[in-house]
Amino acid sequence: MRIIDRFSSEHDVFLEQLEVIERLVRADAPALQVVAAMRTLAAPLLAHAENEERALFPDLEPTMGGEGGPLAMLTEEHATIHGQVDELTSDPAAHRIPDLLDEFQGLLRAHIEKEEQVLFPAAAQILGDDRLARLDRDLERTAAA
Ligand SMILES: [Fe+2]
Repeated sequence: MRIIDRFSSEHDVFLEQLEVIERLVRADAPALQVVAAMRTLAAPLLAHAENEERALFPDLEPTMGGEGGPLAMLTEEHATIHGQVDELTSDPAAHRIPDLLDEFQGLLRAHIEKEEQVLFPAAAQILGDDRLARLDRDLERTAAA
């Protein structure tokens, strides 16, 4: 498996979990239940971002790195998403949940879209299948989970 295939299937899981959380909010589920669902998503999502930054981004640094470049932008978005997750999982006031969640889901969806449409195709072209498969094996040995 190429590392970008692993990350893509993780994206699919996050998008499904996001749907579940949004459905709870639309159905006026108790805040506790929404926060509990967010907590289920939180740790795997943060580990995923950390793994991307640690196991994939360094190899792309020569071509896509630098100040204001794609990797800097994606890394900054990871930090913003991290902050949103922290807020949504640390007992936010119930009335704030819809707005917090709206911002979080908007950014997360746009971020995943960028990685899927821009970063992963570029990584496939720049690094090639063999290198991406090796990165996946390396990650499996050292993954944050
Ligand atoms: Fe990602």
